[in-house]
Amino acid sequence: MSDPDWAGPLGSADSLVAMSAGSEAPEWTALQERASIVAGRHLREMFASDPGRGTSMVATAGDLYLDYSKNRVDAETLRLLLALARRAGLATRIEAMFSGEAINVTEDRAVLHVALRAPRDSSMSTGGIDVVPGVHRVLDRMAMLADAVRSGSWLGCTGRRIRNVVNIGIGGSDLGPAMAYDALADFSDRDLSLRFVSNVDGADITEATRALDPAETLFVVCSKTFTTTETLVNARTARDWLLAGLAAGPDRALFGGARDAIARHFVAVSTNAADVTEFGIDPANMFEFWDWVGGRYSLPSAIGLSLMIAIGPEAFRDMLAGYRLIDEHFRSAPFEANLPVLLGVLGVWYRNFLGAQTTAILPYSHYLARLPAYLQQLDMESNGKSVDMHGRTVNHATGPVLWGQPGTNGQHAFFQLLHQGTILVPVDFIGFARARHGLESHHHLLSANLFAQSEALAFGRTADEVAASGLEPALVAARTFDGNRPSNTIVADELNPSVLGQLIALYEHKIFVQGVIWGVNSFDQWGVELGKVAAVRILGELQGDRSAAEEDANQDSPGHDSSTAALIRWYRSRQTSSARPSSARPQIGLTARRNLSAT
Ligand code: F6P
Repeated sequence: MSDPDWAGPLGSADSLVAMSAGSEAPEWTALQERASIVAGRHLREMFASDPGRGTSMVATAGDLYLDYSKNRVDAETLRLLLALARRAGLATRIEAMFSGEAINVTEDRAVLHVALRAPRDSSMSTGGIDVVPGVHRVLDRMAMLADAVRSGSWLGCTGRRIRNVVNIGIGGSDLGPAMAYDALADFSDRDLSLRFVSNVDGADITEATRALDPAETLFVVCSKTFTTTETLVNARTARDWLLAGLAAGPDRALFGGARDAIARHFVAVSTNAADVTEFGIDPANMFEFWDWVGGRYSLPSAIGLSLMIAIGPEAFRDMLAGYRLIDEHFRSAPFEANLPVLLGVLGVWYRNFLGAQTTAILPYSHYLARLPAYLQQLDMESNGKSVDMHGRTVNHATGPVLWGQPGTNGQHAFFQLLHQGTILVPVDFIGFARARHGLESHHHLLSANLFAQSEALAFGRTADEVAASGLEPALVAARTFDGNRPSNTIVADELNPSVLGQLIALYEHKIFVQGVIWGVNSFDQWGVELGKVAAVRILGELQGDRSAAEEDANQDSPGHDSSTAALIRWYRSRQTSSARPSSARPQIGLTARRNLSAT
């Protein structure tokens, strides 16, 4: 920090708190100037003036090959973007994260999800404690359970083999295992059926348990806090379903009561042993993780237990090894060749300097259908912030809206807007050289679409080209594609557990890079708390005695605006006596009511 105009680190704990490079940094101003130059340049021109661009603007890490040449940047723009990252203290912050410093300042916690994939013989400490032995102790216990279920030695309480595993959790306790189970379906034991319940909508648990035999079903209740209302309500309904089904099922003579049944059919993944025990789950069947793992970063922890049961411990460890490849790359590669850093700064370029509000993730893999939803939480819960690490309102844009769908389906839905709409949507294409299903012609066609889309977005089709095809002049404009629409292309040989781990780590660290530049804490999520508290309060009004306000239908409920009060009255008035919510009232325990604890 030799720049005399630079305010310097703010406070003594430099590595904990971002230096808020943001809009105060000289590089920011330089990038704004750069944007006015680059905005007028077309990718066609950039490729024409540098024929080697498509092979020079690439970087590799592990099995991943990133082509970032179809971005609206030149060498000077990239240099400035990387200088901005340096100005924000990115190198120091990376080290602070890997060193177990409490960089999650609003919760005073370390951020050590990288320790979840650290090798057994390594060490990573926080608060003077090496966490790696604990990580491997839990992984070993998970492996024992996974092997027992997969081999058939873990039996249900009536002696039947487990054939169905139902993961109950929400947010980070659902999206990761659900996404990865789909992604690695081809590596899973097809004799086991995995289902995921997350929504408090009773339809979710109803459909997930439909046609399952309770005697052959294992529930994995995942909740870091074990206070999340949706998860507790679903877990209680699952417990009722299990006990009722066992008591009435063909093996009822062997049903030895609730305690035994819950011990054989429920396991928990949590940091909260007390509430797990209160629920009735044997602490011996609890798989621990730690407060230094954020929910959305928890797939490689015990939250991945249902995935491990599906794909087996060895494949799970391959996935962890994949994560680790990118962790090591992120920590050691120069920024110019560092995939998460490059993706991060390119995202900042579009968000802050070219005005993009959204970004799309387009995996050309049916197996990665849930990747966009997974990355939505990872990105938007991490960087959807408007105050910086010092609690000051930021004066620059932060995280974009992230969305997407697999190709080629998306092409027949929203790609029209990507090609000819009026907003800029930078996209990430993800694809693979080979598919394991053996239907080569399908795979070639899928991949042809991927490459064609990135090419068409970048280069478009000029009015002259359209006119040259002999089209009636009046129709030329509608068939013209401006192009100049940026994309990254990330490819690997095939989708396997290691490559999945690499892709997830790539995005985790990209998001971290952006959070550092924006000066926000990417590891808290206070924005989801208000809605939780409000819902618990309204639940009481929906299912409880009529409130004083409702006795007088003309009066608004105290504390509610007139719209919310009217909606609550409407809802209550529509309940038939048999369907009144109080007749099937979800039990919200005390712990759920105080579910303000951050995850
Ligand atoms: O949606 C908010 C959130 O706190 C997420 O961050 C988290 O992944 C999810 O709820 C589930 O929390 P828990 O694992 O504690 O049930």
